[in-house]
Parts: sequence; C-alpha cells; structure tokens
Amino acid sequence: MARITASVYTSHVPAIGAAIDMKKTGEDYWKPVFKGYEFSKEWLKNEKPDVIFLVFNDHATAFSLDFIPTFAIGTAAEYTPADEGWGPRPVPKVIGHPQLAAHIAQSVIQDDFDLTIVNKMDVDHGLTVPLSLMCGEPQAWPCPVIPFAVNVVQYPVPSGRRCYMLGQAIGRAIRSYDEDLNVQIWGTGGMSHQLQGPRAGLINREWDNAFLDQLIADPDALSKKPHIDYVREAGSEGIELVMWLIARGAMSDAAGGPKPKVAHRFYHVPASNTAVGHLILENA
Ligand code: DHB
Ligand code: FE
Repeated sequence: MARITASVYTSHVPAIGAAIDMKKTGEDYWKPVFKGYEFSKEWLKNEKPDVIFLVFNDHATAFSLDFIPTFAIGTAAEYTPADEGWGPRPVPKVIGHPQLAAHIAQSVIQDDFDLTIVNKMDVDHGLTVPLSLMCGEPQAWPCPVIPFAVNVVQYPVPSGRRCYMLGQAIGRAIRSYDEDLNVQIWGTGGMSHQLQGPRAGLINREWDNAFLDQLIADPDALSKKPHIDYVREAGSEGIELVMWLIARGAMSDAAGGPKPKVAHRFYHVPASNTAVGHLILENA
C-alpha cells in the first residue's frame, strides 16, 4: 500500500522564485532565506518520494473570479508553469500522477468532501516556488506531483477545521492505494503577511512561531482557530496557513498513530513583504 512518509510546510513568496530565476540567491538579502532550505534539499534527495501531494493556492491565475472551487484536485498527466504577467518561470513542467489522483478523488468524495476535478491547469508561484525551494534548479522535478488547490483568495474560504478533516480523508485515501508508493504531502503558503491596505507589511513573529509549535504538538486544537484570528493576527494573506492543516491532517497521528518527528524547522523575516516559515515532519 502507499505510505505517507513525511509532510513539508513552506511559504511560497513569488519574489523567492524571481531571486532563483535571476541568480540572486547569493545576495546578502537572500542568503539567509536559502540557507534555511539547505538541509531540506539534501533531505529530499535522500527521501526519494515517489509522489508529492502538493497543497497550494492558485492566485487568480488558473481560476479567475468567474469560477472559484474551494478544493480542486489535479488529475492531469502534466501541468505547465503559468504566465503570471512576466512570462512563465523557467522551471520544468510538472508531471502529474493521474491514477493516484483519481483514486484520491474517488475516496475523498465518497468520504463526503466535495472536490472539483481539474484535468487542465497552469500552476502559479503557489506550486512552483515550494518546488524550487525544496529541489533547487533541476532539469526535471524529482517525482510526479498531484496539485491540490485551495481557495484562500476569495471569501468565503474554508475553515482550518474543514482543512484538517480533509487532510485526514486524504490520508485515508492515500493509505488505501494499492501500490507501494512513498508519498509526501506538502502544505504551502503563509506565514504572516499582508500585501495591501494600511496594514501592508504586517509581520507577527510571535504568532507565527506559536502556530508552528501548535502545528507540531496539537494540530487538532489548532484546527479550531477561527479564520478571523489568522486575518487579524497574521494579516489578510496569513489565511494561506489553513492549507498547512490539510498536510498536517494526513499525518499518522491524526489517524491514531504515533506523533511525527520534527526533522527541520526554520523561520526568517523578511522575504518581500512576508515572513518565511518552513517545517519538515517525518512519520514514525
Ligand atoms: C506575495 C504574494 C503571495 O502570494 C504570497 O503568498 C506572499 C507574497 C507577494 O506578492 O509579495
Ligand atoms: Fe500566496
């Protein structure tokens, strides 16, 4: 059967993608950001996942305001990096895993979570920047990726509780797939940031670190945090953090198994207008 071996959490700041693409990673401003991912790149090479289930949000790129799926699973064979206004990022195309994605859709929908099925989608910085941070600049991404898009842009957005329970359902779905696959689940976006209005540039280090502590130790309690707390404390775009609860809900302890081990934790300010947070949890 397929196994979920680890979960990875990371911010997806578009300026990080631009820094990589424009060869600026060695500049003083960016050095500390990329240093926080040196361990992670080595770790990923050693872990050799067969599939990455990547929870991210589309930023009105693939989905316009014409139609707004709350939860959308990518079932395509491949996905092209999106043009977000200055040309597509020069990164490899993303190879999907249609069989596992279809199995997860079947299982999760029968488990009472309504998903939108997406057979064609360009993927924006929400998906490609986490891959770049974790993989560097390879010719091809190391394994197939199942993109899972969550609406955290247009209200109403899903609650942390809904996200955590959906993660549990995704965990059940993956663990019931009849092939011995090493699957990782990634939760992306965050940490505190507000990109517009009088509070633009808001950073709340204390809140971010408390979020990381609770994500590790007591995600069930964390999932009960109302969405207004994210917006008030972590800024309007801090709401992206609910996506981390999907990845966390898929870990073994959320299904009655042992607690995961913290393999790596990193926090840094600033990157563009945001705080960068990053965590790797390994299942026992
Ligand atoms: C920015 C955009 C994002 O989607 C995000 O999550 C963080 C930062 C930005 O434009 O700086
Ligand atoms: Fe974002």
